[in-house]
Parts: sequence; structure tokens; C-alpha cells
Amino acid sequence: MECNSCDRDDAGRRDLVKEILQLKKDKRAVILAHYYVDGALQDIADHVGDSLALAQKAAETARDADIVVMCGVNFMADTVKVLCPDKKVLVPDSAAGCSLADSCPAPEFEAFVKAHPGYTVISYVNTSVEVKALSDVLVTSGNARKIVDSFPKDAKLIFGPDRNLGAYINSITGREMLLWDGACHVHERFSAEGIADLKKKYPDAPVLVHPECKRPVVLMADKVGSTAVLLKYALESDSDTFIVATESGILHRMRQGAPHKKFIPAPPVDSTCGCNDCNYMKLNTLEKLRNCLRDETNEVFVDPEMAQKALRPINRMLDLSK
Ligand code: 13P
Ligand code: SF4
Repeated sequence: MECNSCDRDDAGRRDLVKEILQLKKDKRAVILAHYYVDGALQDIADHVGDSLALAQKAAETARDADIVVMCGVNFMADTVKVLCPDKKVLVPDSAAGCSLADSCPAPEFEAFVKAHPGYTVISYVNTSVEVKALSDVLVTSGNARKIVDSFPKDAKLIFGPDRNLGAYINSITGREMLLWDGACHVHERFSAEGIADLKKKYPDAPVLVHPECKRPVVLMADKVGSTAVLLKYALESDSDTFIVATESGILHRMRQGAPHKKFIPAPPVDSTCGCNDCNYMKLNTLEKLRNCLRDETNEVFVDPEMAQKALRPINRMLDLSK
């Protein structure tokens, strides 16, 4: 069987994994991986999780390491660097950006915030360090409701950058937060019609939806939640078949945790292919992980003054998530 994350065969992949594990030990490195990266990377990581769990892990266990490698996207690695400024933080591929973070340039967001004095600024972690620094508190999809609920009902709130997550939180809390008009190109591509077709074939299959999806898709959901919430639901549910509307990397963990169950990826609108990949997450490969660890390349640097400003809303989020 071929590995998806590199061109090597099984024997080559085993050698690569062995080399990474040895490098990890020699260099006192910790490997963190998001559920969306290739399964081979999830399997070799010390901690796999959603954005919230990865930030929490960075704040806790990564402190014992000299090097932290983030197999995910750049905003996650920046968060690790802000939380662990004295560690060497590496990424397998520095080009692993995020369309959602890109949809919220800091100068425009700053102008938006300044145009609304008296508003508290709540930002999703999928943002640049500069946008984080402009925020009062951060959220992930795993804690957004809890953190929004911690503000008085009549509080004036700005929520950025994801219009879909913001609209979802508005709908379940009855709030009218002002929303920044940003989105993730992966989650916006899921097709409500495609899911309806799958439902005809699998009427008993619960539909699991990430809140970055558009409203028509969210309305079809039996469960809306972060990757960790959807994974937990899939593993604990009595159902044996699920339709999954989030990035396809999560299917690896679902299939590992419940090999007897069937997980069907929800289709994207403009493709006949059954799954929806994040091109940024998929830039992470075993080979690039080995290279960055061996050569200590692709180090993440964050301007210390910006980091100082971003740390406050990150820590506030971590405190409110306890
Ligand atoms: P969560 O893992 O927090 O659900 O985030 C999804 C995401 O888009 C990360 O890029
Ligand atoms: Fe960003 Fe979307 Fe990729 Fe997540 S799935 S990293 S939000 S582009």
C-alpha cells in the first residue's frame, strides 16, 4: 500500500517514520498535528486534536520540549510560538496558510473595529497574530458558544472572521453579533444538494457538520461542532453510517476509532470526487516533517511586541475554556 503523504512504498515509509522518531528523541521535540493532516502524520504525532486542544497542548506539554513541530497551518504554529516564545517552533511547509485567516487582513479589520467603538472583539483562532492582537478574546469552534455566552446578553459584540460560524452562534444564542465577512474556501464548498442525495441513499445516517459550513448545510446537520466534537459524536453514536461535512482528514481518525462503521464524506459543489481536502493542510507530508526536524528549517518567528498583544486574548480564551 502507498502512503498518501509521500511517494515512498511501505518499506520507505517505515524508514522515514523510524528516522523521525529518532530525530524527535534526540532533539527533545514534540509533534502536534491537526485532524485535517494526512493520516500518516496524525499517527506519528504526540498529540492530535482540534484547534482548541492543540492550543491547550502547546500551553501545557510543549513546555517540556526544546522543539515543537506543528503539522497543521501557519496560524496554529503562530499560536504555539506566542504561547511558547522560548521554544523553537517548526512547520513542515511554510506555505501552509489558511483562506479564512487571509479573508481578514489586519488593517481592514482594525478599521472595522475602530468604526464600532464600545464593541468587544471576539475572533476565531483562524487569524493572523496581528488580528489576534486587535481582539479582546479568541475562540475556536469548540468553545465559541461558551465564550460568547460568558458576555452579558446585551453586550455589543464583533465576531470575526468567519461569517458562517458567527451566523451559527448568533442563531443558537439569539444574539446579533456584528460579523466580519470572511469564510473558509473548503467548508463553503460543501453541497446541500449533494448531502440531500446521500440522505436518500442513507436515510438513517446522521449528518455531521462543521460550523464553518454555509447555513443550508448547517440546517441539514444532526450534529454541528468542531472536529473533536464531530469525532466524539461519531465514535459514541449507535448509528453505523455517517455523512461527514468537514475536511476529509478527520475520516482517518473516525475510521481508526470505529473500523466497523461507515463514514461517507459529504461532496463539494463543484466536484464529482467524494471528498473535500484543504490544500494547505495537505502540504504537510512525512518527508517534509523529517526535513524540517533534521535541518531545523521553516522556523516560525513572531514579532515579540505583537506576540505580547496576542497572548492576552489567547490566554483569556484558554481560561474561559476550563
Ligand atoms: P477545529 O479543529 O477547531 O474544528 O478547526 C477547524 C479548522 O478549520 C482548522 O483549520
Ligand atoms: Fe483554513 Fe479552511 Fe484549511 Fe481550516 S480547512 S485551515 S479554515 S482553509
